[in-house]
Amino acid sequence: MATVRLDQKARALIRAIPDSYHSALAKFFGTGPKDIETARKQHNAYKSALESAGIEVFMLEADHNHPDCLFVEDQAVIIDGHVLLPVPGHPSRVNEQPPIADFLVREMGGAQICRMSGDARMDGGDILRLGDIFFVGRSTRTNDLGIEELRDLLSHLGHELRVIDIPEQALHLTSIASTPTDEIILAPEGYLPKDAFGDLPNGCKVIWMPPEETYGCNTIGLPGQKVLVAEGYPEVEKTLTNLGLETIKLDFSEIRAADGSLTCCSLFY
Ligand code: GLY
Repeated sequence: MATVRLDQKARALIRAIPDSYHSALAKFFGTGPKDIETARKQHNAYKSALESAGIEVFMLEADHNHPDCLFVEDQAVIIDGHVLLPVPGHPSRVNEQPPIADFLVREMGGAQICRMSGDARMDGGDILRLGDIFFVGRSTRTNDLGIEELRDLLSHLGHELRVIDIPEQALHLTSIASTPTDEIILAPEGYLPKDAFGDLPNGCKVIWMPPEETYGCNTIGLPGQKVLVAEGYPEVEKTLTNLGLETIKLDFSEIRAADGSLTCCSLFY
């Protein structure tokens, strides 16, 4: 979701939590999911929060053979009506993609679809958009060949791409940064150099949060000055409220348990 501007957020794809969710990958901030029912309740609350902000949400059925299938953000990169289907960076996640690709082809009739190939690797969770500037994380999931394929698409669309090296203690760029509005990047201190995002256009800025609120830096900006935030991150909440935004808090503990953040669970199209 991090690849669309606020005015482009009308519809979102999410995917149900599979019965195998307890086997989801968890190597970063997650300790491994334990309670699937709670995870499903939290995921349903997420769906309702998107809907109450006016987003039309479609929930794809779960793939019980793929414990991480709810994290749809990684499986497609949607930019201005174009779709890049990456080769996901973890082998266990590659076969989550076909039903998502089929859905997008069907729903986005006429969209230009590009498929990544060869040794290029990328998770959609490594991409962040601020207005017309894109940032991509070079991470354990996203390699230089993947970045070059994204750069080709973006240059075709007239957008700039900046590369950020993701420290080894983080999964994705969106694990440590988000754009609650089209002018603001929220990121925690201690993970990235202060100049990581480069010079930003007038009126745009990075707001640095305390490192203990790293997970809270993943937010979803929505139309109508609303922002979805994870519950339990008071500095993030105060910062956004002081900017005149309405925060909608969600308990995401059982999604966090599988290294999942708010943006991981949706694709805006
Ligand atoms: N559990 C999400 C991922 O590792 O991709």
